Amino acid sequence: MSSPEGSFVVSDLRERPEFTEAVADRVWRAWWQGKGYPLDYIEGRVAESLDGAAVPCAVVAHEDGLFLGTASVIPSDLDERPEYSPWVAAVWVDPEHRRRGIGAALVRKAAQGAFESGADLVYLCALPEKRAFYERLGWQRLEENVGRNALTVLTLARS
Ligand SMILES: CC(C)(COP(=O)(O)OP(=O)(O)OC[C@H]1O[C@@H](n2cnc3c(N)ncnc32)[C@H](O)[C@@H]1OP(=O)(O)O)[C@@H](O)C(=O)NCCC(=O)NCCS
Repeated sequence: MSSPEGSFVVSDLRERPEFTEAVADRVWRAWWQGKGYPLDYIEGRVAESLDGAAVPCAVVAHEDGLFLGTASVIPSDLDERPEYSPWVAAVWVDPEHRRRGIGAALVRKAAQGAFESGADLVYLCALPEKRAFYERLGWQRLEENVGRNALTVLTLARS
């Protein structure tokens, strides 16, 4: 997918496996390092997105061979809501490339992957300050104040 905001492309990680290390590095630094998990635990989780199954999967944004950002589709993301699946998760854009529409393109491509796996509804959880970003992309609030981090659960239906 090309963007009018530049020449970045969003690909399934299986098509661009050379970005696997960058995906694991960013996801680990953003969400797991601080909780004491080793990098190789996340490398293993990301490697699952290279298997043949539709979910989990990961998408990467890149431009001229440079990694820009990533998002994933995973079966489960919130311990308090095991009945919901699948989830768009780990949406990340490197700080110097933000506000170009890359995050939006990653979320759209990840949701498309979830729908192609057969899901009619895809879930996402976000801190309240990130809600507006997803609502602008058509996601709707399902629940607020869930769990210890007071997350909002949003959904997107297959159109
Ligand atoms: C959240 C995140 C993924 C957004 O990525 P991004 O590439 O900056 O996203 P976009 O460019 O699509 O949109 C971000 C904002 O830039 C605006 N924008 C998009 N293109 C723009 C442009 N060309 N010029 C100016 N602003 C633009 C969007 O309207 C949006 O505004 P909002 O913040 O008021 O909603 C990124 O900030 C990030 O990685 N944050 C850290 C990790 C994180 O919090 N992830 C989400 C967990 S729920």
